[in-house]
Amino acid sequence: MIPTIEWHGQQIRMIDQRKLPSKIEWHICKGYKDVIKAIEKMVIRGAPAIGVAAAMGMAIGARAIHAKTTAAFIARFKEIGEEMVHARPTAVNLRWAVERMRGLAEGMADHPLDEIKAFLRQESEKILAEDIENNRKMGMHGQGLIPKGATVLTHCNAGSLATGGYGTALGVIRAAHEKGKKIQVIADETRPWLQGLRLTAFELMEDGIPVSVIADNAAGYLMRQKKVDLVITGADRIAANGDVANKIGTYQVAVLAKTHNIPFYVAAPLSTIDSTIKNGDMIPVEQRGPEEIYRFGKLQIGPSGVMALNPAFDITPAKYVSAIITEKGVIRPPFKKGIENLLDDRDLSG
Ligand code: MRU
Repeated sequence: MIPTIEWHGQQIRMIDQRKLPSKIEWHICKGYKDVIKAIEKMVIRGAPAIGVAAAMGMAIGARAIHAKTTAAFIARFKEIGEEMVHARPTAVNLRWAVERMRGLAEGMADHPLDEIKAFLRQESEKILAEDIENNRKMGMHGQGLIPKGATVLTHCNAGSLATGGYGTALGVIRAAHEKGKKIQVIADETRPWLQGLRLTAFELMEDGIPVSVIADNAAGYLMRQKKVDLVITGADRIAANGDVANKIGTYQVAVLAKTHNIPFYVAAPLSTIDSTIKNGDMIPVEQRGPEEIYRFGKLQIGPSGVMALNPAFDITPAKYVSAIITEKGVIRPPFKKGIENLLDDRDLSG
């Protein structure tokens, strides 16, 4: 699989996901503002991937700061972080990465500026490497939940492209495939950006994992026909009580899964858990432009002047979630205690 994002000399390059699968094209970012724009415009998307992009963007931003004192450097670096966190509001990995970079800079306040800048770049590389490693661990823990020969439904793209590599939900699917479980995947096409059709199907086909794409509104019918054994999705933010924000449409899939007694699993790294947020009602949901609904690429498909609502994410209450798969293991409801234990563990090992 091609890397989602990487350093390329002094620049950052990322696969332009708006153009996949018809074109595999690098998008170059020379400064932190380019990274913010790339995140806003969906050149790069997926919670962990935008976390990695933000970390690299902070490092590239740091390099361009010409400050006379460390205090002035850190003040400017914090301003860059403030701009970065607003690129997209729902995925908490973005803020997590910015805070980690800011913490590193502050902790090195007595070091020469060149050294701080070099360490920031290294930290962004570390965040990328850790993300891939965490996905592999999630895959290992989560594949145990997938029976041999199962048909797994997934929504959006929580694959290699949505992360540093390997994927969260698709990482679990990949791990089950690598174990020889002979699974197949149903991918919701995921309107309006079609991440399921364009990205998930593309990734799985590259790996030789059988995949069929469905229109989003076919999931209920197929579940009732007993064509789906389990659902697994990624997450953009998980509240302290286990409520999950993920791509719009996830909630209805979860409700349908519960109605049909089908397990609904969420795979996400600890960086997606926001313990400062008690429940999903407090998660900010990004509202995107109406043209994403009534246009198809450049083609207008709705009547001129039509109004459209375009929430990019929804919240699935914890009661619909059968288990959350993380790099530290699988937690079951009630999630509050399980999440607290995982985060305590993270703090001790961190
Ligand atoms: O709008 P997107 O494409 O950034 O939304 C992505 C999702 O909702 C993913 O499911 C989520 O970020 C998890 S990715 C491992």
